[in-house]
Amino acid sequence: AKRSFASAAPLLLLASASVASAAQTLSIGDMHSSYNRNIWWMSVAVIVMAILIFIGVSYALFYTVNKFREDKHTAEPDQFHGNNRLEQLLIGVPVIIVTIITILAARTMAIVNPTPADALHVNVTGAQFWWAFEYPDTPVTGGTVNVTNGNELVIPAGRQVAVTVTAKDVIHAFWAPNLGGQRDAIPGSKKTFQIDTDQPGVYQGNCTVLCGASHANMRFKVVALPKAQYDAFIAGAQAYKAPAPANSSEQNGYNIFMQGKASAAAAPCASCHRIQGTPAAGAVGPDLSYFGSRNTLGAGIWEGKAREAHIQPWIKNCPSVKPGCLMPVYEKLSDTDLADLEAYLLSLKLPESAAYWGKVP
Ligand code: CUA
Repeated sequence: AKRSFASAAPLLLLASASVASAAQTLSIGDMHSSYNRNIWWMSVAVIVMAILIFIGVSYALFYTVNKFREDKHTAEPDQFHGNNRLEQLLIGVPVIIVTIITILAARTMAIVNPTPADALHVNVTGAQFWWAFEYPDTPVTGGTVNVTNGNELVIPAGRQVAVTVTAKDVIHAFWAPNLGGQRDAIPGSKKTFQIDTDQPGVYQGNCTVLCGASHANMRFKVVALPKAQYDAFIAGAQAYKAPAPANSSEQNGYNIFMQGKASAAAAPCASCHRIQGTPAAGAVGPDLSYFGSRNTLGAGIWEGKAREAHIQPWIKNCPSVKPGCLMPVYEKLSDTDLADLEAYLLSLKLPESAAYWGKVP
């Protein structure tokens, strides 16, 4: 019965046609998010009022045009001035309408804006052209940092998530339409707002402020897990230590990652990237601690198999596969070295109990 409203044509302006369909369809009409539900029903109320006003005004207009048509009235209609009743009506009705809309808007803001006391907090940092997701108050075992992931945000379904948004370089904007509102990510500013869903799933997010050459390639995934799986991810991520290289290929990849290679004539990967449990502690680029357990590459440009096919071209010449990518070019690395780096990166896996892809029921 709720969804029957969606068949009203004007409402389609507000949401994509597939209100009811789940993950991966970008939709602000996704009713699995309490944030979206609140905004949606307020919008419906305002639109219904607008439709009623439109009908009333149209009726009055056509009634008048018809009643005072020239072929019915050759003489000028009666003239009058000073009708208190009419003036009270013309001022009173709009005041009532605006008051109702103000109350509705204030009520909705009072519901969606305050951060609930039991919300999960996540710090989000936008950078050209990727996202960092940090979970405050989840210190890594034996370390000084919190659990952090790049471009893939893992959240528990059924719980409000308070997202605090900022940026490193230029203005970006964080938006996962199925999960709630959008906020600008501005360097030096921190803004907190809520996202949520009651449905485990994989949701698409995008940067929504033009921020440079790869603005369109600045995506992210939100993986909403059942609570038990989410807790297992955080516990596994806190205790995570990158596995030692298991063979000579991974060992060579590890060495190049940590120390670089003289012949590559470029900085080692470790000077910009972090891998938990290794000396690599760079914070310039995305955290790669569990790169092997991820499913996306390049802030969501590629997924799954397509991702694996692009790892080596990515390392070799990032700007050629992602315009504006700030990573140096490593074209002087041999094909073997590139393959070894890929092998090492793919070996960086969370324990199966803590992995989050494939855990959505
Ligand atoms: Cu970042 Cu657009």
